[in-house]
Amino acid sequence: MRLLGPQFLVPKFKRHMLTNKKIAVLGAGKMGGAIIGGLRRADVAPADQIWAADIRLSALESLQTAWGVHITQDKLKAISAVQIVILAVKPQQLPELLEEIWNVIDRSYLVISIAAGTPLGLLQEKLGEDRRLIRVMPNLPAKVGAGVSALCRGGSATVDDLDVAGAIFKAVGEVVVVEEAQMDAVTALSGSGPGYMMLVIESLADAGVKLGLARPTALKLASHTVLGSAKLLIESGLHPAQIKDQVCSPGGTTIAGISVLEQFGLRAALISAVEAAACRSQELGDTSGAQDCCKN
Ligand SMILES: NC(=O)c1ccc[n+]([C@@H]2O[C@H](COP(=O)([O-])OP(=O)(O)OC[C@H]3O[C@@H](n4cnc5c(N)ncnc54)[C@H](OP(=O)(O)O)[C@@H]3O)[C@@H](O)[C@H]2O)c1
Repeated sequence: MRLLGPQFLVPKFKRHMLTNKKIAVLGAGKMGGAIIGGLRRADVAPADQIWAADIRLSALESLQTAWGVHITQDKLKAISAVQIVILAVKPQQLPELLEEIWNVIDRSYLVISIAAGTPLGLLQEKLGEDRRLIRVMPNLPAKVGAGVSALCRGGSATVDDLDVAGAIFKAVGEVVVVEEAQMDAVTALSGSGPGYMMLVIESLADAGVKLGLARPTALKLASHTVLGSAKLLIESGLHPAQIKDQVCSPGGTTIAGISVLEQFGLRAALISAVEAAACRSQELGDTSGAQDCCKN
């Protein structure tokens, strides 16, 4: 049974979709900077096609030094130079940013928002019903080109717009397309997932230290075990249970460890964690202020 191989991560967004397209990233922080770095590292868009705009001059100067892109503190100048605008400020900073730019964003622009928990409806309300909008949920490994981003298309965006957005986020990792209703689940799984994985890696390293390994050795063993296991799973296309079975010899060490993980409810803990994070994402995105979906 093959489940996951590279063919599973459809569709295949092509870099030529970005030929001659100019991109402004509004908010050049952790994620905005990661996207710019990814575009340059993968050479998907030349430096002179990319604009970074931020209120922080120091963040802009670092990006210019690293990647040679255009920088400005004047968002309207950046917008006037491009066809694609990526909104990459914190969700709570977005209303102010939208207030500054709404009257220059017409239908000629493709607008991509990466603001967690901010529905397309809210962006449409501020920018206009017929604006071409794509919502994306990336994750932090985008900083090293190993992210995974989920994209959903607003009603007035075209299929080509989705391809263009896909090509941008392919530069920082893998891409999937979902319905907007699934964005809370995405946020809880892959958006928050790097946080869960850090706990797993840290705990494995702690166990190694408890058993006498030096901390750096334990951390290296733990992090590469997680990295290598994920790579093996993706490249083999096997089901996780098949790889687990390959590692478990009868009466051996791995099945002894797995038996303890089952006893302590690792699976149930992870499922409940993702459910709780999805509830929280739903609460944060609920503009009515309802705060009770996680109570049960
Ligand atoms: N980081 C993640 O793991 C992650 C994952 C998925 C999605 N996201 C989404 O990505 C977005 C950016 O997150 P981040 O972690 O990259 O945030 P960040 O590091 O704080 O970057 C945001 C940048 O935008 C600047 N800014 C604030 N208001 C602005 C304005 N009106 N005009 C221009 N620049 C402005 C901020 O300056 P100040 O610092 O001075 O405010 C900061 O430099 C968020 O919406 C978040 O939900 C992040």
